Order: sequence, then structure tokens, then C-alpha cells
Amino acid sequence: MNPFREDLVSRSRAEPCSIVIFGATGDLTHRKLIPALYNLAVDGELPTGVKIIGFARREKSDAEFREGLELLNKKVSRSGQDPAIWGPFIETVSYHTSEFTDPAGYKSLADKLDAIDAERGGKGNRLFYIASAPEFFDEILIALKNAGLNEAKPGCWSRVIVEKPFGTDLATAKHLNQVVNETFHESDTYRIDHYLGKETAQNLMVLRFANSIFEPLWNSKYISHIQITCAENLGMEGGRGGYYESAGALRDMVQNHLLQLLSLVAMEPPTDLSADGVRDEKVKVIRSLRQWDTPEKVAKNVVRGQYTAGYIDGNAVPGYREEDRVSPESDTEAYVAVRLLIDTWRWSGVPFYIRMGKRLPKKSTEISVHFKDAPCVLFNALPGGVPGGNVLVIRIQPDEGISLRMVSKIPGTSLRLEPVKMDFHYATSFGKGSPEAYERLLLDAIAGDATLFARRDEVEEAWKFIDHIEHAWHQSDNPPPMAEFVAGSWGPREADQLLQQDGNQWRRL
Ligand code: BG6
Repeated sequence: MNPFREDLVSRSRAEPCSIVIFGATGDLTHRKLIPALYNLAVDGELPTGVKIIGFARREKSDAEFREGLELLNKKVSRSGQDPAIWGPFIETVSYHTSEFTDPAGYKSLADKLDAIDAERGGKGNRLFYIASAPEFFDEILIALKNAGLNEAKPGCWSRVIVEKPFGTDLATAKHLNQVVNETFHESDTYRIDHYLGKETAQNLMVLRFANSIFEPLWNSKYISHIQITCAENLGMEGGRGGYYESAGALRDMVQNHLLQLLSLVAMEPPTDLSADGVRDEKVKVIRSLRQWDTPEKVAKNVVRGQYTAGYIDGNAVPGYREEDRVSPESDTEAYVAVRLLIDTWRWSGVPFYIRMGKRLPKKSTEISVHFKDAPCVLFNALPGGVPGGNVLVIRIQPDEGISLRMVSKIPGTSLRLEPVKMDFHYATSFGKGSPEAYERLLLDAIAGDATLFARRDEVEEAWKFIDHIEHAWHQSDNPPPMAEFVAGSWGPREADQLLQQDGNQWRRL
């Protein structure tokens, strides 16, 4: 045990278990889940006795499955691949071929799990990770129940992790929640949102509630507005167009990742750090969002857009409608900006602006808290005023960290002011990179800590808000128009106007 870590371990103990991954031949398993489990093993965090079973429809031997995992892990694992650790790790991984609805496949899975439990001395903890295509989520849950695999043996646990998308609207999310809750207890249900596992997202609560200087300012008296930007430079590579056409930026990223970040920024301090203590406060934020429930309100507060052909890093890229597997007449948004109002005492009158776009100039996610200007006396009263006010920037990725912008005097005999930055970088301050979000989340699920997972009511409240916008776009008689922007630029003009109506502008990233 590292002496610096003794007494600092705050999580419940992760116990040996069997992890069954449904949809094991997919990209998520290869790119994220197995590398995350491997890196937990590298860090000595994965309990010994963990066995991993990949469940999928395609015929494959254990050896073929392992070979494919190894190839990708080598490419993407954050710590590389050490044969001394990979060897024993991959030995714990096996493959199970079955249709998602075939009872016989679940019966043989149950036998396999029993055999593993017997080997392990009877301990039968199980974690089912549903990472298949979403249309199979219900069927897998029902099949698990029919095979009795949802029931934990005495003294053991049985949990389920459900990947995104968790429904496509409020009705489908409610239906899925019902199936989940008829199969697993809510406290054994882990709805994943990988943004919550990102180091900087977790640090949001620490920043706000472990420091005494921010919380007194964290309200409408001192904050002018808050922006959350999630920019991506990629488009629809790797055949993603097919999925994206049925989702769009609003459902793909805003309903989950961006509203989750918003709730962490805007929540009241929880009374304790229990999963429900934290989630009780988060859900209140989503519930307090003013609803944009008419096409007129949507037109005033939401901008959707598609990119046209342009250049990113000097390379020509196609427009959204020319992308692979995208309809030339598509009305799916690849960019969205929303102006939000939270109707609580703390946030009354403070706009929150969130934006997400594909094919923007770079990949970057950040939250910026813009404080009100100092009163217009003294320096603010000088000709030209003060160059910009205080902005606290929380960089979620890349270059995770926090910076605070202040105004300073330029050294010299005349009085000239210039903004400066106090900057904290995780990598240099702690001398090590952050773990991947999936590492933290998998370990939490194994340890039974659901704090960083979305609860049923959070998911449903978020869909309620999103559904009004989708409805105005796709089902109303006067849908607000689709804006355009050139790929490689910072989004449509209309998104700038969204902020200009309040006298604000997007922060340049
Ligand atoms: C996924 C979305 O949930 O998150 C993708 O479906 C998006 O469209 C991805 O690209 C972004 O995740 P990250 O961790 O790379 O920011």
C-alpha cells in the first residue's frame, strides 16, 4: 500500500465479481471497457477474482475474442500494454455466443457463472453491462430476469449497468425504466453517463464545496452568466452517420452529458455525499429548468445547425449532408446551442448557455463562469473601462484544469490594465494523467457506489425538457429553421445572436 494513500481510500471495497458485457463485439467494449478494466488491473484497483464474459451474437472462440481485444487495447490503452499484466488479465476474459433473446444462451451463461462462483469459493457477485445496440436493451433485461440472473444469491449482489442512449424521448425512457426496475432494484441500477466519470466533472463538487471562497459568489448576485461548451472536430467518421441521423446533437449529448454538467455546476450543496444525497440536488436543477414548450420559445432560445463543407486543420471535410450514411435532405442537427434559465432563488435571472457541435475547430469541453463586472467607479470608470471581467474556466478536457481570469496592471509608469490568468493543470500539479472515465465508473459499480450514475428521475426530467424542443423542431407547423455554419468555424451566426440578446458573447476557446 502506498503510504500516501493509506486512510485516504474513501470508496467502499470493490469485491470479486463476474462481469458480463452484452454487445461484446462492439466498439465500446474494445475501445473503452476492456482497456478500462485492464488499466484498473495495472493500477492494482481491479479486485482479484474478477472474471469477464463477453456476450454477443457473432460466433467466436475465446482466443479470437481475446486477440481482437489485445489489438485494440495496444492502440488505445492509456498505460500501454505490459505483457506481464496483460497476460494474466486476458486469461480472465472469455466469450459467450448467444442471441440476445435465446433462453438457452442465458441458461448456459448461468451455468458458466455458477462454475466461476464455485471456483471462487461460492461468492456469486454479478455485474451485467448492457452495451449492445439500444434496441436490445429491453430484451436483454427481460431474458436476464427469465433466467433468474437478476436475483442475487444470499450475501451477494447482482447489478446492471445500462449504456446510453437511455431512451430516445420521455416515453421510451419511461418504458425502459419500467423494464429495468421490474428486473433490478433501483439501487442496483447504474445508468451510465461517462461525462460524470471525467476527473474534472468530479472535481466540480470539490471546487465548489471544499473551498470556501467560491460558494458565497456562486449565485445571481455575482455571476452574470455561465457557458458550457462541448466542441468536437470529428464529424461522422467510422459509419457514425447512421446512428447520428436518428439522434442529433440535442439527444446525443445535451440530454445526458451537458445537462449532467449543468446540474453539477448549478446544484445546491447536498447534505451528504451519498448517491441519493447528491442526486436529489442534481435532479432539482433539471426540474427547475424553464421549459421551452412552444415553437416560439424554442425559436428564441435554441439554435440548431448543420455544417457545410469546410476545412479542419487544413484538411477538406464534407458538409453534414454529404457525410457517409447521412441523408442529403437530413434535418438532423449536428450543432445545438441552448439558452437556459433555472427558476430557483440562486439562479434567478442568470442565463446558462450550452452548445455542442461536430466539426468545430477543435475538441474541447469547458465550463466558464462569467462574473459580473466590478462597479463602474475607479478603474472601470477609466476611458475604455476594464478589459473583460473575471471568468472562472473549468476545462473538462483536454488539458484538464481550472483557470481564473483577473485584471492586472501592466508593470510600468502608466496605468494600463490587462487580463491575466491563474492556471491550474492537473497533469503538472499532480504529475500524472487522469484515469479514463470508464475506469472510475466501472470501479464504482463494482464497489456499489451509484453517485456518478444517473437516477431514474434525472433521466426522465431531462427528457421532459428535451422533448419540447424536439417536438417544436419535428412536429410543429412552424418549426424554427436549421442554421448553417462552415465546418471548422465556431458555429452559426444565429448562436452568436442567442447570446447577443442578453449582451453576452461566447468565450473563445
Ligand atoms: C458520446 C456521443 O456519448 O460522447 C458521441 O455519442 C460523442 O457523439 C462522445 O462524440 C464524446 O465523448 P468524449 O468523452 O470523447 O467527449
